[in-house]
Amino acid sequence: MDINNKKVISGFSKLTKAGKIKWIAENFFNDPSKVNRVLKGYWHSCEEQQEVLDGFSENTISNFHMPYGVAPNFVIDGKTYAVPMVIEESSVVAAASSAAKFWMTRGGFNTEIIGTQKIGQLHFKFNGNKETLKDIFPRLKEFLIGGTQDLTSNMERRGGGISNLELIDFTNEEPNYYQIRASFETCDSMGANFINSILERFGSLLKEFIMSSSEIEEYNKDVEVIMAILSNYTPNCLIRATVSCKVDELGTFPEGTSSEEFAEKFALAVRIAHIDLYRATTHNKGIFNGVDAVVLATGNDFRAIEACGHTYASKDGRYKSLSNCKIENGIFSFWLDLPLAVGTVGGLTSLHPIAKTSLEMLGKPSATELMSIITSVGLAQNFAAIRSLVTTGIQQGHMKMHLQNILIHMNAPKEKVKEAIEYFKDKTVSFNGVRAFLKDVNL
Ligand code: MEV
Repeated sequence: MDINNKKVISGFSKLTKAGKIKWIAENFFNDPSKVNRVLKGYWHSCEEQQEVLDGFSENTISNFHMPYGVAPNFVIDGKTYAVPMVIEESSVVAAASSAAKFWMTRGGFNTEIIGTQKIGQLHFKFNGNKETLKDIFPRLKEFLIGGTQDLTSNMERRGGGISNLELIDFTNEEPNYYQIRASFETCDSMGANFINSILERFGSLLKEFIMSSSEIEEYNKDVEVIMAILSNYTPNCLIRATVSCKVDELGTFPEGTSSEEFAEKFALAVRIAHIDLYRATTHNKGIFNGVDAVVLATGNDFRAIEACGHTYASKDGRYKSLSNCKIENGIFSFWLDLPLAVGTVGGLTSLHPIAKTSLEMLGKPSATELMSIITSVGLAQNFAAIRSLVTTGIQQGHMKMHLQNILIHMNAPKEKVKEAIEYFKDKTVSFNGVRAFLKDVNL
């Protein structure tokens, strides 16, 4: 490594925030004073609030703003919500709002919690006799549960705790490798800290138990803990959201498309996302447009939710659509099954000021109620995307926002925006087209 390289530093984390900005600005930008101004310009005006935001991560030098929008008119299990969404992609909030309004008068979204189980794993190597380990496992289980009582008692009082422990034998895949797979109920919290603390304790308890076991030969008492960590794959923390109505209640669609034709084409589009991997990925991406936006707005971990959802989409050995559609006896039904480990207490949910506002907007929901809301938004998003795709195409809706973004980029005055929207109603929006339009109107 070139030690004179100015782009390398040791002790960056120890610099003050201003010092970090100065170093970055001087070594990575052509105009250090401009970048200094830009980054500081996005600091929160209230010093205390800024300190809260800085505290979420390391080496924070500024804030990255994202739009915080609201999709109103979501009727979910008979209750009406205005749903907060954090998303930078144009048309997502508009699509969710439009689908919410559509289903509001057709029975709304109905949800069913299928399970709330979270999972953690203790991965270890054990050289001794496999059968002996299996034989002593029931006692080991009791020892592990008893030895973590101090960590679980609070959660048990709230109705949660450790619900099961299983010994999984992976020795045919990796010599001497076993796993303790633990199931948990974590009530209204996502439970990451709770689960990880218990699993790490399991690691030392496992060693202690094996060392003191009379069934295991002295020379085989060697147990190696590889790692202890929750699993983000929670297929039994699962919810189903459904919308359903008579086919002829679906209404009318552009270009004379009847409700029957629409329903058939819609169902076919969903089947295609079950058949074809390429389409399935885009189809599910559309679902996560809505899911992630609410997950972010409520201070939950969108990476965990995405990772889990995509694994679940491959659970049958092939990646496919997370949603399903059927038309039976004149009834159109569309539903989404989603594993969702989210929390409404703890973590960022109670620290981030806007996440707290989001939860208040949703009426301070329990974790299961939040699962219902998030899955309904995912289903709404999916419905809106497919409805556009099989009727007008999505560009029509996208283009208005795209046009507005181009106009902002070209510094068009406000009064020209309306004119441009009218002018481009039946034309393809492009940078060149907008430039020419603005030139024609003398800008
Ligand atoms: C765009 O962000 C999402 C869509 O591509 C989803 C879909 O194709 O179903 C519109």
